[in-house]
Amino acid sequence: MMAVHKSLVTSPWNASKLLRNPSSISCVIARTKSGEYKEQMVVPKEEVVRFICECMCKLGATVEDGRVVGHQLMIADYSGHFSHGMNRVPMYVEDIKTGMTDPVAKPQIRNDFQAIALVDGNNGLGQVIGKYCMKLAIEKAKKFGIGMVTAHCSNHYGISGYYARMAIEEGLIGFSCTNTSPLMAPTRSKSAGLGTNPLSLGMGALCGDQFLLDMATTAVALGKIEIAIRKNEPIPEGWALGTDGKVTTNSEDAYKASVLMPLGGEEHNSGYKGYGLGLMVEVLCGVLSGSQFGPNIRNWKSKDKIADLGQCFMAIDPDAFGPGSQERLSELLKQLRNLPPAGDKLVLVPGDPERFAMERVDREGGITYHPNQLQACEELAKSVGAKPMELVRKKTVN
Ligand SMILES: NC(=O)c1ccc[n+]([C@@H]2O[C@H](COP(=O)([O-])OP(=O)(O)OC[C@H]3O[C@@H](n4cnc5c(N)ncnc54)[C@H](O)[C@@H]3O)[C@@H](O)[C@H]2O)c1
Repeated sequence: MMAVHKSLVTSPWNASKLLRNPSSISCVIARTKSGEYKEQMVVPKEEVVRFICECMCKLGATVEDGRVVGHQLMIADYSGHFSHGMNRVPMYVEDIKTGMTDPVAKPQIRNDFQAIALVDGNNGLGQVIGKYCMKLAIEKAKKFGIGMVTAHCSNHYGISGYYARMAIEEGLIGFSCTNTSPLMAPTRSKSAGLGTNPLSLGMGALCGDQFLLDMATTAVALGKIEIAIRKNEPIPEGWALGTDGKVTTNSEDAYKASVLMPLGGEEHNSGYKGYGLGLMVEVLCGVLSGSQFGPNIRNWKSKDKIADLGQCFMAIDPDAFGPGSQERLSELLKQLRNLPPAGDKLVLVPGDPERFAMERVDREGGITYHPNQLQACEELAKSVGAKPMELVRKKTVN
């Protein structure tokens, strides 16, 4: 591990000041007469990857691994999940600087039994471990019809759907999930016992169409509350508890307490189902892999021990069951999208909102970041000595 001087360690995660800072970047943002920011510039996808890769390399990662992290985070922003893209880089940087993540570690197979493998992440970069494990699961699925890999000693791996998508691109069903630091209050508890524990499952249909469910098992991911703070906005009721242990709409109080409600919210809204799903993820991740689990995982704000997260990756070959799955999925997706809408918006299938976000980025020639995120990137570039991100003018403004 490279030694890093203490003074270089910034702590954006306990500095909601940085999240809130609305300072304008004159070359990037034009202020309208009403005083609102009008974003006219975007960051091309490749430039996002370059910037994140450079940040990782400045801290010791290889270019190859830096690009893996950069690409994975870029896809999060590209698909509209701004909470899990660039927004996460300072957390990774801090984990490396404080010695909590080893940027040069490589994952290793510990057990290999036919369609199943256990991987030791060796406390490396979560995305590098995730990509390695899903590649292994895909290899096994091509050989045995199914492949399942769990990892221990891993770190935050970003959006779960990225790994499911890797399998979809190979004509397979992809599944992934991860445990995370305790953030969710199980039904009837006022303190956190499980993480946001996201899961994803996807399958390709005909003509490039697909179903891709990728969701936290809490009402929302914590990153959504960070984004609300960045935008100076309240949060909807049912997302989180406040510092007094009661449901709050104050984003800063929610962030301070960091106790999210399970998917569904309170017990009378069936929140226990989200709690059950989060526990299911924990069985597949922490319990199977031997990583930390549940309340034993370090607090996400603390830097006193490594994360030692557990993750699970599955790939399944639909053709192993016989022909016609893709066709049937296409028919089903069409039937669902064609259902009569209850309001003025069309019925979607999971994965559609992300596809629309990607199409928009492609139309505009790059990703539109919130001014506060761009400001945070400038500060990050300075702190690690990376070349700042270059922005280009948006192609079309909708
Ligand atoms: N690594 C981690 O620690 C971690 C933790 C939590 C979340 N995450 C990631 O954060 C991201 C955001 O999670 P989230 O739970 O906030 O996602 P979300 O609530 O935005 O979306 C969840 C799913 O619902 C689908 N969806 C949205 N609107 C829909 C509609 N009208 N009809 C049908 N389907 C619809 C989406 O396509 C998506 O598959 C995910 O990529 C997740 O993997 C990562």
